[in-house]
Amino acid sequence: MDQLKPHDIALPTRPKGSTITQWLYDELRRAILEGRLRRGAALPPTRRLAQDYVISRRIVVNVFNRLRDEGYLETRAGSGARVSASLPEDYTPPRPPKPAARPSLPTRPARIRPFRPVEPALAEFPIETWARLTARITKSLGLAHLAAGSPAGEPALREAIAAHLGASRGVACHPAQIVIVSGAQQGLDLLARALLRPGDKVWMEDPGYIEAAEIFRRAGAAIVPVPVDADGLDFAAGLKACPRPRAVYLTPAHQFPTGVTLALPRRLEILNWARRHNVAIFEDDYDSEFRFSGRPLPAMKGLPGADQVCLVGTFNKALFPALRLGYLALPDQWLDPLLRLRSLVERHPAVLPQQVLAAFIDQGQFATHLRRMRRLYADRLQALRQEIGHHLEGVLELPEIEAGLNIPARLLNGMSSTEAAESAANHDVEVWPLDRFSLSRRRHPALLLGFAAFDRRAIRRGAAALAQALR
Ligand SMILES: Cc1ncc(COP(=O)(O)O)c(C=O)c1O
Repeated sequence: MDQLKPHDIALPTRPKGSTITQWLYDELRRAILEGRLRRGAALPPTRRLAQDYVISRRIVVNVFNRLRDEGYLETRAGSGARVSASLPEDYTPPRPPKPAARPSLPTRPARIRPFRPVEPALAEFPIETWARLTARITKSLGLAHLAAGSPAGEPALREAIAAHLGASRGVACHPAQIVIVSGAQQGLDLLARALLRPGDKVWMEDPGYIEAAEIFRRAGAAIVPVPVDADGLDFAAGLKACPRPRAVYLTPAHQFPTGVTLALPRRLEILNWARRHNVAIFEDDYDSEFRFSGRPLPAMKGLPGADQVCLVGTFNKALFPALRLGYLALPDQWLDPLLRLRSLVERHPAVLPQQVLAAFIDQGQFATHLRRMRRLYADRLQALRQEIGHHLEGVLELPEIEAGLNIPARLLNGMSSTEAAESAANHDVEVWPLDRFSLSRRRHPALLLGFAAFDRRAIRRGAAALAQALR
């Protein structure tokens, strides 16, 4: 192929700020890539190009050499430079196709707004200790641990939990009666599927934990709402509504969402009746660790005659929600059906996090963390009382509570709880309307306010914003 005439590669004028070398390199490379200098075409001799553009020949030689080194030109002794038959771009991998647009996944809100009700103080969790334990235990796991776990959970963790329940919840149970689950939610689901039959009636506290009701419904059960008063579930009202349910769901330590404690005479009455009529009791003990005042009441499972009670416990509030570990303390007669179901759907829970948690409990770090959190949460509740008193006197009324991460505030301004929560959201405050937890037509003019996750400043700002929303 003939050598190109200089005008065949007419180069645009050099822009200001560019060196001659850079300009010549950029323009020749661009001409090659755009096909104006075709593959195999001979370039003019360096001397002629230098003359035509009135530049130093040395610069042209340097640029040709660089383009040759990069694979854009081929030079052969005596025949000048030609555009390479194959260009470096031929070898670059094709760009991956743009991923098809997908619906975005729900994620946790980046910022937790006051007064999100079920949030623990995550910033206070001793993550360094947890990380050290995780590293140590990962290294110490033998091949047997890598092969499989037990359907009921790791023996080390079940022993640690049985000891914890004995000491702090007054529950005498054997590690063999403990089944590790991913949290209260999974515990309730396994119980419902193993024990309930379509059409079975289940008493639920009203207002109550609607996500438990949803699980029982999905197992085919019919929900019987039973009102809650200052002493907890109204047993007499329950008997009137449905005298022979198959099961009763209770949050006796700290009723969700009203915060009341199920009174001892009612506990005994319910246990006695459940035993006589073979009624299963699901005791959801979800946040009883956070009792900061008053006498610690043992779990119902710890009372005499509690052979119909399954205690459902969780570490997801006491430690951190993403942990996903909890437990069931089961009556012997329910162990078999429950473990058969568990093996079928999941084999066993993941081994490593259970081993880490067992060490965390055994070494006393769990107890230390709980002690610290009890003090912190008591202080934060006190701060909330002061700020609500200051900003919302006559609008919100806080009851006395002795445990938990949240408090139901009574609305005194005539708003419904849903209206109030919507108005709060418009002022960047998250509160949950108690009407959301109503299982009947009963209305509850109250808002659930969390305090555990917020320091004094956040509480002050939240209370001021809430005052604007509710006044
Ligand atoms: C009353 C009650 N029980 C159980 C749970 C769920 O616990 P987990 O996260 O362990 O499944 C919650 C969560 O907020 C709750 O409020």
